[in-house]
Amino acid sequence: MAKRLFITKSMSKLMDESNDKGHGLKRTLTATNLTTLGIGAIIGAGIFVLTGQAAAQYAGPAIVISFIISGVACAFAGLCYAEFASMIPIAGSAYTYSYATMGEFLAWIIGWDLILEYLFAASTVSVGWGGYVVSFLNDFGIHIPAYLSAASGSVLVDVPNIGWKPITENLLKNLSALNINVDTLPHVTSIMNLPAMAIVAILTTLLVIGIRESANFNNVMVIVKVSVIIIFIAIGFAFVKSANWHPFIPENTGEWGEYGWSGILRGAGVIFFAYIGFDAVSTAAQEAKNPQKHMPIGILGSLSISTVLYILVAIVLTGIVSYTMLNVPDPVAVGVNAMGNGMFWLRPIIKIAAIAGLSSVILVMLMGQPRIFYSMSKDGLLPPVFSKVHKRFKTPYISTIITGFVAMIIAGVLPIDILGELVSIGTLLAFAIVCVSIIILRKKRPDLPRPFRTPLVPLIPILGALICFAQMASLPLDTWLRLIIWMAIGFLIYFTYGIRKSKLFNENKNEKK
Ligand code: ALA
Repeated sequence: MAKRLFITKSMSKLMDESNDKGHGLKRTLTATNLTTLGIGAIIGAGIFVLTGQAAAQYAGPAIVISFIISGVACAFAGLCYAEFASMIPIAGSAYTYSYATMGEFLAWIIGWDLILEYLFAASTVSVGWGGYVVSFLNDFGIHIPAYLSAASGSVLVDVPNIGWKPITENLLKNLSALNINVDTLPHVTSIMNLPAMAIVAILTTLLVIGIRESANFNNVMVIVKVSVIIIFIAIGFAFVKSANWHPFIPENTGEWGEYGWSGILRGAGVIFFAYIGFDAVSTAAQEAKNPQKHMPIGILGSLSISTVLYILVAIVLTGIVSYTMLNVPDPVAVGVNAMGNGMFWLRPIIKIAAIAGLSSVILVMLMGQPRIFYSMSKDGLLPPVFSKVHKRFKTPYISTIITGFVAMIIAGVLPIDILGELVSIGTLLAFAIVCVSIIILRKKRPDLPRPFRTPLVPLIPILGALICFAQMASLPLDTWLRLIIWMAIGFLIYFTYGIRKSKLFNENKNEKK
């Protein structure tokens, strides 16, 4: 039985699959497309929402150091992804890499785990998207009713001068600081988050229509968000007051994680979410024109560009406004406010950039997930319908629709504040396994051609895996419990379905007969 679970897919088999012209997916993506796909997936809620909150609560201006630490950790994992993606240019990403190295059972676990990253991230970010759209439309006098803009059953209150907000611990704290009794404010109970559901539905339709069309849409969104971020950085430098950077590392309050070096580390854990997405490039390997050469460019290029932008935004943002003011859902907009009335025109533009930025994150996440399902289904671990490719559109349309539907329900109905951490823990686990797999494959198959080689193996993969585990360890127990429950569901499905239907196992069995 143990041997059965660790059955691995041979490299020659993977190469055959990657060269198989009949797989149906179209090879149309260039190095530039792959890099923009990466930037599309990376830059989103992390920079537009979390940076300010992490600076205000944990790291102060030293959030810049948190970005560097988290960026280095992701770079280690990114280098390992680049080696695999150039060597095994198949759609399934980390799932496929572990099938080649650690065996079917662990591959299944990784594939199942990646759902946490892609599908759940799409839902999480679409809720952020809904928030920005509601606020943007509000500025133009178009009001989406509060009962249609939050998770089902959540209670919202109408806060004077601010508008409808869901009741959270933070809100209660702020209201009591202002001496406002929450019970005196008008309440509504939300039916569903309609804007979040709408964006998932629209992007799912686009993804069904075509990978090229989706990549083009993504390119436009990336140009908008990156241009606005560069404008913000360039203009913002002129408004920096260096007093805001002093003290650069605010003194620790005595609690672990509240400023000081422990705060920097905690900040790094929180803004890890901002880097999630570069690995989504690897899910499109089967649609890349020249994956061996272009996959590493797409993965490492998008990660480097985003890292530089993040660090610059963090420097400017904490320079123009005191970090204590940044614990808000739209910290970049607060930064623009601090530039004074002359810069008022930049406010709606920042919101447009955030909306564009979040759209592309959702798009690429919704693109990555069906491609992992596609590979798992091709291997027999999921039902064949998951790998059905549309005759005309050449996209895995059924798995795209299933992914979109589930993401839409989660986004519209479930309270998702807990999902962000679940996304992070799932992604960290995948990164750690990819790092370890690189060492295993170097030992098992040193002879294989590697168009891109991770430098300093085993040092870099070991450091990459250790940092990922350390970041996982810093997440709350609840998040671990949710991860364990999710994995238990995955075990159940594997042992009742995948183990019997596995193509690799059944082929090997037939060959032996
Ligand atoms: N990195 C993505 C974001 O920040 C998930 O929205």
